Amino acid sequence: MTEINGRTITPGTEDIDPMFLERWSTRAFSPEPLTQTEIDTLFEAARWAPSSNNSQPWLFLYATDGPERDLFNSLLRPGNQSWATWAPLLAFVVARKGNDEGRVFRTNQFDAGAAWMSLAMQALKMGLHTHPMGGIQIDDIHEKLDLPREEFDVIAGIAVGHHGDMSHLAEDLQEREKPSGRKPLAEVAVRWTGQ
Ligand SMILES: Cc1cc2nc3c(=O)[nH]c(=O)nc-3n(C[C@H](O)[C@H](O)[C@H](O)COP(=O)(O)O)c2cc1C
Repeated sequence: MTEINGRTITPGTEDIDPMFLERWSTRAFSPEPLTQTEIDTLFEAARWAPSSNNSQPWLFLYATDGPERDLFNSLLRPGNQSWATWAPLLAFVVARKGNDEGRVFRTNQFDAGAAWMSLAMQALKMGLHTHPMGGIQIDDIHEKLDLPREEFDVIAGIAVGHHGDMSHLAEDLQEREKPSGRKPLAEVAVRWTGQ
């Protein structure tokens, strides 16, 4: 039984790159700011994600501090506000639904998911942590960030920063502050036999 970062991998898959086990979603962020170069590098990684027809439907809107950050914090659901406001970078991942020529981007959320994961893995390589959030105020994000519903899907928030002290977290969140497990491999990848 091989464990990496407290996570047990499926026997026979020991060649997996450890980075996939090393990424996990912390809630204990340190407020230490990121440099603009670090921020640009994260989004550059996202920029090179694959997408259907190379449509690149993703759009990352981010804030770090000041009134813009206060607004972004207010667009999280309260449960996420309790910890994500500590992270030095908060972004919302949105995806264009189509282009001006009338082409519909059917896979826009899949594409945006690939871009987010590229960012998450780049962050890991830079010694940073990420935490995606579905708990966001979708209606308010459309309205306050001027994202018409006909044009954009608002998908998720992401907090990024250095791992920090968890003493500011509520007790229940402190208990959850560790890498989680997964369903068995056989439940998520099945060789189709035609029956
Ligand atoms: C689309 C999406 C939405 C999520 N929403 C939240 C959220 O609102 N709040 C939260 O604390 N974690 C959220 N998470 C984090 C998941 O709970 C976490 O990724 C999952 O438990 C696996 O743990 P790991 O990322 O540490 O490996 C979300 C993750 C994803 C991918």
